[in-house]
Amino acid sequence: MCGIVAYVGRKIAQPLLVEGLKRLEYRGYDSAGVAVIDSAGNMHIRRAVGRISVLENTIQNGQALPESFIGMAHTRWATHGAPTECNAHPHLDNSGRIALVHNGIIENYAALKKFLSGKGHQFSSQTDTEVLAVLIGDLYDEMKVQNHIPPGVSPLQRAVQAALHQVEGTYGIAVICKEEPDTLVVARKGSPLIIGVGKDEYVVASDASAIVEHTTQVIYLNDNEMAILKPDAFRTCTIDDIAISPVVSQLENKLEEYELGDYPHYMLKEIFEQPTAISNTLRGRAEQKDGRIVLGGVSKYTRELIRAHRIILTGQGTAWHAGLVGDYLMEDLAKIVTECTYASEFRYRNPIVEEGTVVVAISQSGETADTLAALREAKERGALALGVINAVGSTIARETDAGIYLHAGPEIGVASTKAFTCQIVTLAMLALYIGRRRFMSQAQCQEVIDGLCAIPDQMTKVLEQSDHIRTIVEQFCERENWLFLGRGYHYPVALEGALKLKEISYIHAEGMPAAEMKHGPIALINDGMPVVFIATQGSQYDKVISNIEEVRARGGKIIAVATEGDANIHRYSEHVIEVPDAMECLQPLLTVVPLQLIAYHAALARGCNVDKPRNLAKSVTVE
Ligand code: M6R
Repeated sequence: MCGIVAYVGRKIAQPLLVEGLKRLEYRGYDSAGVAVIDSAGNMHIRRAVGRISVLENTIQNGQALPESFIGMAHTRWATHGAPTECNAHPHLDNSGRIALVHNGIIENYAALKKFLSGKGHQFSSQTDTEVLAVLIGDLYDEMKVQNHIPPGVSPLQRAVQAALHQVEGTYGIAVICKEEPDTLVVARKGSPLIIGVGKDEYVVASDASAIVEHTTQVIYLNDNEMAILKPDAFRTCTIDDIAISPVVSQLENKLEEYELGDYPHYMLKEIFEQPTAISNTLRGRAEQKDGRIVLGGVSKYTRELIRAHRIILTGQGTAWHAGLVGDYLMEDLAKIVTECTYASEFRYRNPIVEEGTVVVAISQSGETADTLAALREAKERGALALGVINAVGSTIARETDAGIYLHAGPEIGVASTKAFTCQIVTLAMLALYIGRRRFMSQAQCQEVIDGLCAIPDQMTKVLEQSDHIRTIVEQFCERENWLFLGRGYHYPVALEGALKLKEISYIHAEGMPAAEMKHGPIALINDGMPVVFIATQGSQYDKVISNIEEVRARGGKIIAVATEGDANIHRYSEHVIEVPDAMECLQPLLTVVPLQLIAYHAALARGCNVDKPRNLAKSVTVE
């Protein structure tokens, strides 16, 4: 949700900024812009509506930028104001000296705008961000007139601090000023910002993907912290100007992991990476030889976990679907009362958090604003807060009491795929970790671990059916309404299949428990409507067959995801996609893969942008 990259150092800034933007484009892609200060101290700004490539063309064809060693850039996901050139970042103050890029929302922007307008300031956009730029400019002037700045202190730093004291809301910002052409000021509250520390240079970005090419040494800014960066010096402090000793960390992921390689799309790459990603999630944790689970990240809280009275799993979108599978797993394997709730709902419903409640925040990015807010609420109410997170060092990961990283590698495609399956694997391991210490036998624990360890190879067999799935999808991709139905462990999979199809192919799809269909949605079924059933062999197989019959009787066309070798299912289905047999509680890891591929092939067939679907952003950092 908006991507920021900023640079100060000895290299020419502009190409580095544009390359950084391309890596961050998945965060938002309705418009983009760049600002640099040249060696004569002039500010230059280029902005364009559309993808980064449009901005790049603008710069290459007629609007070249001069050589400069400081600058910043932004890719936008619109919140306030339509995606137009004048609403694109960077934004300037009224004098044109100060430029700002911003990720987040300034909630009191209307009041500030009124105040600043009263002082004679003008605005050229509808954005909340421009208000902050103008406010910083106003305070910068005031400070210079009053001459209150101690020697050696940047007036820009002071103006930014003063402005941030007046704003309500969230921000990750980078600010430059042509009167201080070697100073980059960055600050954060609620929106991520990482400082890459190179030799005589700093690359600041919303996430590591734009940094890893330049350095692997990073500083994660916390809320209400800022940094003043010059090529040969930097200082970190709070926005109240209390100095902070920076902690320099090492980035975990390598540059190659962010590359597309030979794949046409990140989504396809990430679908096919799942066997490896799951092996990485399991490595060193699921010990097949001894039949035990080792979870170093939560071991400090083992006692609290064994004694927990209630587990609340929370997240949004795909992470919430993984949580729903986790809900079944926790009750099945750990025998603890569990619920899975949307983070956005948990946060505002005055939740009851009794003693012995464990809240598990599930998030790929670790930056989702709703999930972060729920986590904070849970901690405030005394819950033990755990995280199941992919992005190392992300805000949620740092705010939890303990957690388990997925180690799935970076997920770039907006449609979450490998994070989903790795989240389920992680939740299964957590359930085993607790369950074995409560009522679970060694034999049962061993059986599930064996099942988990078999998943990567079984999943590879499912992936081999990609072409078969494409031919099925091509027969139905013109249909505007689909249903996804499943029971038990496959109900969340049905939800996930529908979400994938909606978000990347813009087909209307609904997922629901197969039994729920007859309570209303059955009215939707008409001749030829594609209905995907997850109909693997298991405790509810016969009931699912009955539900299939109900759909067929009304003209629906059945695409069944079924167990390998199930001859019976062909009698009820137009098309069958087979998955290897697995324990019922682990089947979602296999049955979701065909649904991911259905969505991928449908989006391709309909000419949609698979990795950057309309209106979406990878990481949703506003509530
Ligand atoms: O980064 P998170 O896992 O917290 O993201 C949560 C959702 O925004 C995310 O899963 C979203 O639903 C995906 N686009 C679905 O594919």
